[in-house]
Amino acid sequence: MTPDIKPLVAGNWKMNGARDQLDQLALMSRGLDDELAAKVESAVCPPATLIYVATTLSEDTPLIVGAQDCHAEASGAHTGDISAEMIADCLGELCIVGHSERRTDHGETDASVLAKTVACWRAGLTAIVCIGETEAQYDAGEAEAVLSRQLAASVPDGAKETNTIIAYEPVWAIGTGKTPSPDDIASIHALLRDRLVERFGGPGERMRILYGGSVKPGNAAEILSILNVDGALVGGASLKAEDFLAICEVYRDV
Ligand code: PGA
Repeated sequence: MTPDIKPLVAGNWKMNGARDQLDQLALMSRGLDDELAAKVESAVCPPATLIYVATTLSEDTPLIVGAQDCHAEASGAHTGDISAEMIADCLGELCIVGHSERRTDHGETDASVLAKTVACWRAGLTAIVCIGETEAQYDAGEAEAVLSRQLAASVPDGAKETNTIIAYEPVWAIGTGKTPSPDDIASIHALLRDRLVERFGGPGERMRILYGGSVKPGNAAEILSILNVDGALVGGASLKAEDFLAICEVYRDV
């Protein structure tokens, strides 16, 4: 947590979930009472096929709906892609960009992630910009250098707390059940905060820095209490309303 920053718990459903998964989304939105919603923002990023029905279902509830990726351009000959404008048209409010699975599976670079972030802003979406080191980079003691480089090159000038959220996701912690030690998370998040403040000043102090990678109900309280951890990006544990809400509940009494 960081004083004066409202945290965000964002679920990334990845390529999971058909229409029957929307029952879980409905349970999530019902579980967010006003008291909890005052403490923490909650979002779900379902597959693109479900965004519009998800925003319809969560209308008038505190649950925010986002997307998992967008194309940098607003429209055109890009078969299979969706634009930030299309996400906004479906009433999505957020978009994850630069997730390590996109960087690995689709060859996305810092430059393309930066362009997608600009696209999010153009469409009025808040971008969740993901960065993270691989296990080899972590083992080689290169995490700080890699993350500094990714942050500098993936986040455009003009980033501020209202248009950009950073997600630190060590690649080796995603879907593995492994997490860095609390001390490691604290020192990486402190480094990211320093870099954001150096570059953006006041907005850098206020930008949210999420941790992602094997966050579950069992470890959420410890991770989310760390200074400069302003919420979580949650994969597997966001598919079940019970688990997702248990992570959000960490903020109820703090
Ligand atoms: P995980 O995924 O929580 O399943 O590790 C996190 C993510 O990839 O955003």
